[in-house]
This record gives sequence, structure tokens and C-alpha cells, in this order.
Amino acid sequence: MTLSVKSQPSNTTAEAQVDTLLEQMTLAEKIGQMTQVEKNSISASDVTRYFIGSVLSGGGGNPTPNTAQAWARMVRDFLEAALETRLRIPLIYGVDAVHGHSNVHGSVIFPHNIGLGATRDADLIQRIAEVTSKELLATNVHWNFAPAVSIPQDIRWGRIYEGYSESTDIVTPLAVGYVKGLLNSGVLPSVKHFVADGGTAWGSSLRYDWLHGNWQLPGEGYSIDQGNAEIDEATLRAVHLPPYKAAMEAGALNIMVSFSSWQGVKMHAQKYLITDVLKNEWGFEGFVVSDWMAVSQIDPSFYTCVVSAINAGLDMIMVPFDYKQFIATLTEAVEKGDVPLSRIDNAVRRILKVKQTVGLFEQPFGDESLLSEFGSDEHRAVAREAVRKSLVLLKNDNNLLPLSKFQPRFLVAGDAANNIGIQCGGWTIDWQGGRGAITAGESILTGIQQIVGEDTAVEYSAEGQFMADPTDIGIVVIGEPPYAEGMGDRFDLTLPAEDVELINKMRKTCTKLVVIMLSGRPRIITEQLDQADAFVLAWLPGTEAEGISDVLFGDFPFTGKLSHTYPRTQDDIPLQALKQHPNGALFPLGYGLTTDK
Ligand code: GLC
Repeated sequence: MTLSVKSQPSNTTAEAQVDTLLEQMTLAEKIGQMTQVEKNSISASDVTRYFIGSVLSGGGGNPTPNTAQAWARMVRDFLEAALETRLRIPLIYGVDAVHGHSNVHGSVIFPHNIGLGATRDADLIQRIAEVTSKELLATNVHWNFAPAVSIPQDIRWGRIYEGYSESTDIVTPLAVGYVKGLLNSGVLPSVKHFVADGGTAWGSSLRYDWLHGNWQLPGEGYSIDQGNAEIDEATLRAVHLPPYKAAMEAGALNIMVSFSSWQGVKMHAQKYLITDVLKNEWGFEGFVVSDWMAVSQIDPSFYTCVVSAINAGLDMIMVPFDYKQFIATLTEAVEKGDVPLSRIDNAVRRILKVKQTVGLFEQPFGDESLLSEFGSDEHRAVAREAVRKSLVLLKNDNNLLPLSKFQPRFLVAGDAANNIGIQCGGWTIDWQGGRGAITAGESILTGIQQIVGEDTAVEYSAEGQFMADPTDIGIVVIGEPPYAEGMGDRFDLTLPAEDVELINKMRKTCTKLVVIMLSGRPRIITEQLDQADAFVLAWLPGTEAEGISDVLFGDFPFTGKLSHTYPRTQDDIPLQALKQHPNGALFPLGYGLTTDK
């Protein structure tokens, strides 16, 4: 089923249906549609009682047990509760399936976007979205808070890996591919985070600490995430807005607003960009959703927050906890005239039209028959292809790669060589991800063990403890511990001592050394590059790491190209500094060696 206005009843019929509904709705039913609650904070009966329009799972918002079947049951309960309301307006459930339905144990987890950016393959990304959609609909989920179309300009940002590239020209076609893949499959994309979330300055984050109810000044975490984009409008329009326009023209019907600020004003209060530009200048007909409790960051007074955000053009609020307070506050604002009823009606009209376009009025549930395909080999094959195409080869002295499958012995080192959690990064099972065997998948080590000849030995030592002989080839895998959002903001991007020591040790041990780095961003590797005979960037490949051995051993060529300009030193960060630095980049945007098969 394709999501497009064309595939729905004729416009007049569809419009008439929405008009009829709107005329019947009470203020409580309208405000309920504008309210999105996280699944642990509301009962199914309150979904009915308060006419709630949407429920979400935040990162790690999993049922117990965390299986696809349990997910389908959990979501179905909320959908059924919404159909118990007077007007039976269907609920839409949202999740962050940013690299596959990655909260769910056993789902196929694709490379994070920074790796997909290195593929430059919009068709592949459309197919990734189609597979992701099947695994979402199997669990009754119709709304994916993706793609992030961030254009990260500072690699110290903890969300850099959620963006495809520093380049607008690389991001835009890939974002359109992903949006089309979801829409073609009956899933609603949420293009995020509007706008210039990747254009903020280090140290500019002034973040509201929900747990303690106060404003946090930058520390290591949240030093740039949710910060301020101190850029002019020309830069905003040239660099950060184009992917949204293209996604909208491709049929995107939902946009999520950024926690960050532009020119010192919180995006959630930016009426000029949300209403004047997005809705009026561009004619955006979908609805605009807030980010997680982001409305509360506008002002110390929650009443002011709600009035500012709704009047700026927000149509649905990801509350996500105290829905009763939000509903009461917005109701008071309408009754006092601080929020015009016309604004409420416009927001609800947009929400109803999108639910209609998604087909929820005809079919409010997903397709649980797709559970039989959940995590299937066919789905995993698409992820394995993506891993292959995402790899960037920075160095290959004496054409060491591709390796021979019949080499007598390989010495594999590094905890990251056998660690699904490090391969997957943040937004995997839990918000911040985790280490170790957190879900089903293949590690780099098992990929190597499976591809080499039966007479070839593969020895593994996380610590690199080997008795080597001159014919041995060493493969050392280093990796960033997983992180998400501002928890991943990091000033110092040089390699940690344990990685430096491991590479030093393996250099002394082996006559030939391949280094593979798993990371959500470029890390400063200039010295280590000299030590390696071959150096591979594998980014955050997800669960199908056999894709790495496929290329390492020549079944497929290296084709990936850098989606970020690669800095030589700490002083080359952010991108603006790099462009002015006399020594220039270590590698330019688009760099990547190739190999024959
Ligand atoms: C998070 C993120 C956003 C995500 C939302 C729901 O804080 O900023 O990308 O979609 O909350 O999990």
C-alpha cells in the first residue's frame, strides 16, 4: 500500500471526511489528538478516556519480553483503546527505527546513517526503508521517527552518526530515498530535527534538566547537542533546509522539530521557520511534532511553553509523561484565548489528514502476518549489502587487501572484533545502546571465521596476546563504546590509550597489520595510519558484520567514499576550522580507495 494523497479517496471526499469529523469533535477530543504520550506513562483505558492521538516508545521503550510478538501485542492494545472512543479516531504509534526496528531484539539492524552516507546509494537506502517498514508493520507500528536529515558540521556532536553527511548534496538524495521507501510501504516518516540540529556551536548547549527541573550548563555531555546554531538565514537555507524541502516534495507528511536553537531562539518557539517558511512559504500540508519534552525548554513557565509552541506552529506535542498537565494547560490557553481555536482546528485537521493518508481509518492495525519475516535472512541480506558498500578504505600498502582466504593464520585482536553492541552503536535495544551480545547478529570475528578456508587458522585475543610468526597477518578492531544524543558529545577525538596500545602491540607482533575502526564519527588516527598496512573505516555497521569479511577477503570490492572531510588533528575540528587550517584535511570528502573483487 502506497502512502500518497492520490491513493486515497478523492480529495473532496477525503476533505469532507475530515471536515465532518472536525465539526463533531469536542475541544477535549481535539486536544487529545494533539497529545503524544510515551507508552510507560499511560494506560490503555486513559488512551480512551483522554482521546489520545499518539503513543510512542522512546529509545528502549520495550515490552517484556522484548520480542516482535510482544511488541505487536503491546501496540495493538493501544490501537484498540483508541477505537473505543466515541468517534473511533485511530491512534498512530511511533518509534525510532533509525537503523532498523532497532529497539526490538532480533530485528535486522542496519548501518547507522554515517555509514550509509558512504554508500551514496539512494536506491539501497530506499530498500532499507522498505525492509524496516515490514518489521515495523509486523509490530503494528505505522510511524518511524526517521530519517534524520541533519547536516553535522562538527564531528564532536553525539548525533553525528545519525546524519548521512556534512554535505547537503549527499544528504538530500539519500533522505528522499528513505522517505520514499517508508511511504511506499505504508509507514509515516518523520523528517528530523527541524532545523539545523547539526549546525550548533560547541559549548552553546543550555539544556533543561527534566529530572531536577533546572537549566544545565555544558559539561562533557550535552556541550553541543541541543545547542545554538549561530548561522545566518542564507546559510540555514543553503545548507540545512534543502533536505526538508526535498522530503516534503517526495511526499513526507511529518516533521519533528529540533531541541536546538537558531540565533538564540528555541526551534520549538520559532514561528517564522515552522509557520511562515515551512507551512506558508513551502505549503507543507502534514503535521509538525515536537521532540521529547522539548516544549518544556522554552520557558520556566509551562503555560508559556505550551502557548509559545502551539502558536509557533507545533501540531502534536511529544509530552511525553504528564499528559493530564499538558491537556489541562492547552485547554486553559484556548479558553483564555491565548491559543486561538482556529490554531487547534488547523493542527487537528493536519493530524487527521495524515492519519487518513496513512490509511489508518480503513486499517488501524499493521500486518502481523509479517512477523514470519521478522529478522529473516532475506532482510539481513539487504543489511549485509549496506555494510559492504559503507566501508571506506583509507590505506592499502602493497595491495595487502583483499586478503587471501587460504592464508595460514590470522591473528584477530580487540574486544570490538567480537562485540555486537559496539558494532551497532546507540539506539539499539536501549537508548544508549549497550556492549556485548545485546541482540542477534554476526560479529566481525565470526564473519572472518566463516569465510576463510578450512585449513586457515583464526586466532582471537581481545588483548592481542599472540605468539606470532612472520607469515601471520594481524587484524585489529578498535571501536567506540555506544552513545546517543548529547551523551555522545565529546571534545577530544584522539584514540583512547587502550586502542593506541593495542595497535602498538599488534604492530610489533605482526609483519602485516590491518586496522578496522568501528566509530560513529571520524576519530584522530593520523599516527595509527602510519602504523597500519591497511586501514578500514567500518562506522557502526549493525548486526550483519559478515559484510565486512565479504569485502576484506575480496568477494566484493571496497567502494565506500568518506561522507565527512577527515581531520588531521584536534585543531582541525569543527569543519569551519578545518577549511581554514593550513595543513588541510587528512582525507578530503569523497576519499576512498577501491579494490578489485
Ligand atoms: C529523542 C530524540 C528524537 C527521538 C525522540 C523520541 O530525544 O531527540 O530523535 O525521535 O526523542 O525517542
